[in-house]
Amino acid sequence: MTTTSSAALTDGPVYRGSSLELVGLRMAYGDVDVLRGVDIAVPAGSTTCVIGPSGSGKSTMLRGVNRLHEPQGGDVLLDGESALQLKPDVLRRRIGLVFQHFNLFPDHTALENVALALRKVKGMSKADARELAAARLAEVGLAERAGHRPRDLSGGQQQRVAIARALALEPEVMLFDEVTSALDPELVKGVLTLMATLGQRGMTMVVVTHEMGFAGKAADQVVFMDEGKVVEAGDPAQLFSDPASPRLRRFLSEVL
Ligand SMILES: Nc1ncnc2c1ncn2[C@@H]1O[C@H](COP(=O)(O)OP(=O)(O)OP(=O)(O)O)[C@@H](O)[C@H]1O
Ligand SMILES: [Mg+2]
Repeated sequence: MTTTSSAALTDGPVYRGSSLELVGLRMAYGDVDVLRGVDIAVPAGSTTCVIGPSGSGKSTMLRGVNRLHEPQGGDVLLDGESALQLKPDVLRRRIGLVFQHFNLFPDHTALENVALALRKVKGMSKADARELAAARLAEVGLAERAGHRPRDLSGGQQQRVAIARALALEPEVMLFDEVTSALDPELVKGVLTLMATLGQRGMTMVVVTHEMGFAGKAADQVVFMDEGKVVEAGDPAQLFSDPASPRLRRFLSEVL
């Protein structure tokens, strides 16, 4: 196992995250309402962790934010501007999404995976894309692994390649959906450390996670969702130690 050295993470870029605001966001699959008016404000450069039971609509909410599934109503404001008015491909350049499953190209090296995204999305030349890809991989602590194919990388390293690929497109906001839940326990920490570092460097992040320790430490705000609504949101220490709603109290007693 290769761990991320803290040196690799200290001298990195400073990000300029944009604010993100969900206003009365409603989403459905067919006739089934899944989000029933979700309001979440994420100030620029801050981290919001979203927690809640399975099926509460957390993934659906992230899919609505970058319009992998079109919202039924409400709005998403990116830096104050309606994301629903932007072209989806422009929006997805500005808001990066990283999933539980990394979706790397198996026949390409880590470097090529990042460089291909840069060539396709940003239209960069091969040489420029490779140079920038190498820099991005170094920032996630993978300089020495750039020439490896996904199968020769650990799950945690593959997930960090996926994060480097998203960062290479210079998003203003990063969305993470359970990015550590498919990883072996010993690989989780490296990915969580990387996400915490991105937050410290100014990225705006929405992190759906079951990692309550991470939420407690890295989040500026924790949002608890249940049945397609925000039940409670606030400061992590306060929310975890003194939940106002019985539903959050019950949820925490099950997961903590
Ligand atoms: N493609 C789909 N078609 C129909 N219903 C869906 C689809 N995706 C999700 N749903 C339903 O929408 C609801 C919310 O699902 P969602 O995946 O957003 O929950 P979640 O909070 O992310 O859960 P988990 O913690 O298990 O990932 C669930 O009832 C789910 O069954
Ligand atoms: Mg989900």
